[in-house]
Amino acid sequence: MVPGTRLVVLGKQGAGKGTQAVRLARHYAVPHVSTGDIFRAAVRSGSEFGKKAREFMDAGELVPDDVVVGVVQERLSQNDARLRGFILDGFPRTVFQAEALDELLPNGGVELVIDLEVPTEVVLKRLASRRVCVECGTNYSIEKPPSDPEKCDVCGGKVVQREDDTVSAIRRRLELYEEQTAPLIAWYMRKDKLVTVDGIGDPDKVTARLIRAIDLRLRRGADA
Ligand code: AP5
Ligand code: MG
Ligand code: ZN
Repeated sequence: MVPGTRLVVLGKQGAGKGTQAVRLARHYAVPHVSTGDIFRAAVRSGSEFGKKAREFMDAGELVPDDVVVGVVQERLSQNDARLRGFILDGFPRTVFQAEALDELLPNGGVELVIDLEVPTEVVLKRLASRRVCVECGTNYSIEKPPSDPEKCDVCGGKVVQREDDTVSAIRRRLELYEEQTAPLIAWYMRKDKLVTVDGIGDPDKVTARLIRAIDLRLRRGADA
């Protein structure tokens, strides 16, 4: 990948954005920027900001656009992201946020947006079985638990169910996805920045599929 490459991973709740963005960030040696992770860290810190964010998150509602854009602007202005690029996970998720991102970035915005495609019935099963480490955010599931069911293999942190993985919050999050985020697929397609990748199957296979698709598109862009 060319240095300074800026990617977005788009996809429904439970599509595997977090799981795959961590791997892609390692592969391409760029920071993984997840707005959900940033908000969860703020909640853990007990700050006023975290308390406000938590109300939206636990209900499955979106944090207001201006707040999210401010957080992303601050993160992307740090040296690692400015110099090496980044993989955005969970942002943008409204057209307002996508427009704001274009304005934040020089040279025509992000290079590529990957839509990780997984049908709703599959994401519902994944979200119900998801477990996460409260310290480092590593994902597990009932089918693939850590070796000690309550302790993270990576950092020893506590492994729990996410507060917003309740039936009602999941329903609301998916509703908001259809309403606010799905329109971004057509929005980025019109800009010729979208590539769709099948998110079903073993996570290693999905990662390989993603890297193939990204490299192919970025090479095409570089040759043009
Ligand atoms: P966020 O943390 O981004 O949550 P989300 O959008 O609901 O997405 P998820 O994290 O649930 O899904 P994922 O695609 O990352 O799936 P994962 O890899 O975990 O946001 C949380 C909240 O913060 C929002 O609701 C909102 O309130 C706020 N927020 C964040 N960004 C915002 C923004 N831009 N604007 C406004 N508000 C914002 O995988 C799911 C499960 O499936 C895991 O158990 C995993 O192990 C498993 N799995 C993954 N891949 C596979 C596979 N290939 N096969 C089988 N299982 C798999
Ligand atoms: Mg996630
Ligand atoms: Zn951990």
